[in-house]
Amino acid sequence: MEDELLMHTLHTLPSSVKKFWRKRYDIFSKYDEGIYMTSELWYSITPECTAKFTAKLMKELLDNHLNKDEYKVIDLCCGGGGNTIQFAKEFERVIAIDINPINVRCTLHNAAIYNVEDKIEPITGDWNEIHQQFHNIDFIYCSPPWGGPSYKVKGEKFDVYTMEPLNLDRLISSIIPITRNMAFCLPRNTNLEQLKELSEIYSLGLRVIKVKEYGRVISLVVIFGDIAQVKFQYNSDLQSDLQ
Ligand SMILES: C[S@@+](CC[C@H](N)C(=O)[O-])C[C@H]1O[C@@H](n2cnc3c(N)ncnc32)[C@H](O)[C@@H]1O
Repeated sequence: MEDELLMHTLHTLPSSVKKFWRKRYDIFSKYDEGIYMTSELWYSITPECTAKFTAKLMKELLDNHLNKDEYKVIDLCCGGGGNTIQFAKEFERVIAIDINPINVRCTLHNAAIYNVEDKIEPITGDWNEIHQQFHNIDFIYCSPPWGGPSYKVKGEKFDVYTMEPLNLDRLISSIIPITRNMAFCLPRNTNLEQLKELSEIYSLGLRVIKVKEYGRVISLVVIFGDIAQVKFQYNSDLQSDLQ
């Protein structure tokens, strides 16, 4: 929607996402400084403290594994920049990719509010079509769409093979030629057996971290590759469990 309003008050917010208004400072603590969000981004952006936790954890894992002065990372499916902004605080260069040009615009605008826009290289494109152009990347993070509300079906495990529009098997196979260090944000009810299966198929280490918000597990950070086996000190109230 080219003409969608990107800056909202409670009154202009579409009724379908009004319930997220009270979470605006959790999503972006600088919300009042002019943050841009589409109606879809209101429920899909990674909240700031979770994104900060993820970025700091990945920085420590990469430091302990590669120990480089500078890292080049990709935030694949950058959405409104929730993760991109926090990665840009930790890393020298972040390539932010999204298929939706409005989301890329939101990411850059929001990054400017956090004074990190200079570290971000924005790319609009479909990962399925552009992945072959990337080389020499240290780490790829991806918070893919979970395929709509069906992931919430009670009691059912979330199937990573049928995840739409980017299934995890295809994602991993497209990332491996670029880097063997990757992490994904996945639903809390993700089928862990499938994750183990994929780690075996691709001979990648695996570590699953449960992420909490207000004491409740809200998502998983699933780390594949050499960094999955690296020891780390970083701890946070947001992290409830390791496997
Ligand atoms: C859950 S949102 C990501 C939220 C983001 N981490 C944030 O904090 O703002 C998923 C994003 O994936 C993007 N996406 C979906 N299919 C894609 C594809 N084939 N290539 C690149 N991006 C895609 C969507 O446009 C959407 O912005």
